[in-house]
Amino acid sequence: MSGRVAGKRVLITGAARGMGRSHAVRLAEEGADLILVDICASLPEVEYPLATPEDLDETARLATELGSKAVAAVVDVRDAAALAAAVDDGVAQLGGLDAAVANAGVLTAGTWDTTTAEQWRTVVDVNLIGTWNTCAAALPHLVERGGSLVNISSAAGIKGAPLHTPYTASKHGVVGMSRALANELAVHHIRVNTVHPTGVETGMRPDSLHGLLIEQRPDLAPLFGNALPIVMAEAIDISNAVLFLVSDESRYVTGLEFKVDAGVTIR
Ligand SMILES: NC(=O)c1ccc[n+]([C@@H]2O[C@H](COP(=O)([O-])OP(=O)(O)OC[C@H]3O[C@@H](n4cnc5c(N)ncnc54)[C@H](O)[C@@H]3O)[C@@H](O)[C@H]2O)c1
Repeated sequence: MSGRVAGKRVLITGAARGMGRSHAVRLAEEGADLILVDICASLPEVEYPLATPEDLDETARLATELGSKAVAAVVDVRDAAALAAAVDDGVAQLGGLDAAVANAGVLTAGTWDTTTAEQWRTVVDVNLIGTWNTCAAALPHLVERGGSLVNISSAAGIKGAPLHTPYTASKHGVVGMSRALANELAVHHIRVNTVHPTGVETGMRPDSLHGLLIEQRPDLAPLFGNALPIVMAEAIDISNAVLFLVSDESRYVTGLEFKVDAGVTIR
């Protein structure tokens, strides 16, 4: 098997669709075997539907078609015990683990006076604690031989992106957690990096955010504008960054905030 990550075994959460599927396909193209995890169910606090079991099957099919061994599991990343069990099972089937991509995430929208405690809890639980759970499930398999943790943050993990404060806070939290882990785990040759995408067209579509920007706070719309003259990036652009961070090409890269943000954070 040839490729930039040939023979590497990689856990991806939120793998059923969107960027998670794109990461799976890109890593499979370059020779990785995969453990694919997704909740495959919607959440009441999230206004757009999440993925389905059929979506996860399709990601596994696409990876397999490319020659990858793919083990799929329906798991909520908020459930640390279930996630660890699924990862242990996948590792047993693939013979080890080399990297994890904590990609599962949700987005709620609201002004300061309409954001609820339930939204806060769900968003922080999935985006921040779920990322921690993913790292914690992967780490027992990485400490002996080293590896790479890739935690998906956002441009909103660097910039004070408004009208989705729990999301922005959770994505900043992912950066702090990743920096601390990068220090703690360097001794084991485990690298920990974050990826910061600008807007990408996926199923993560809270229509109310656009309503808020157009009807209530048009003054804030420029904060979402990229420096480069594009409205959105594509999933593949983010997957190429993930590929680099999983591969040995980045063997001395740790604690990096890898912006694939078309310059939105310098605005
Ligand atoms: N789309 C964007 O504009 C954008 C920009 C910056 C960062 N991001 C981040 O990229 C990552 C991928 O998002 P996407 O745009 O592909 O969105 P998406 O909604 O299409 O995909 C997210 C996936 O995560 C899964 N998921 C959600 N909650 C889960 C849970 N508790 N346990 C397991 N799986 C769960 C969903 O079912 C879905 O398949 C997220 O972390 C997101 O915050 C997205």
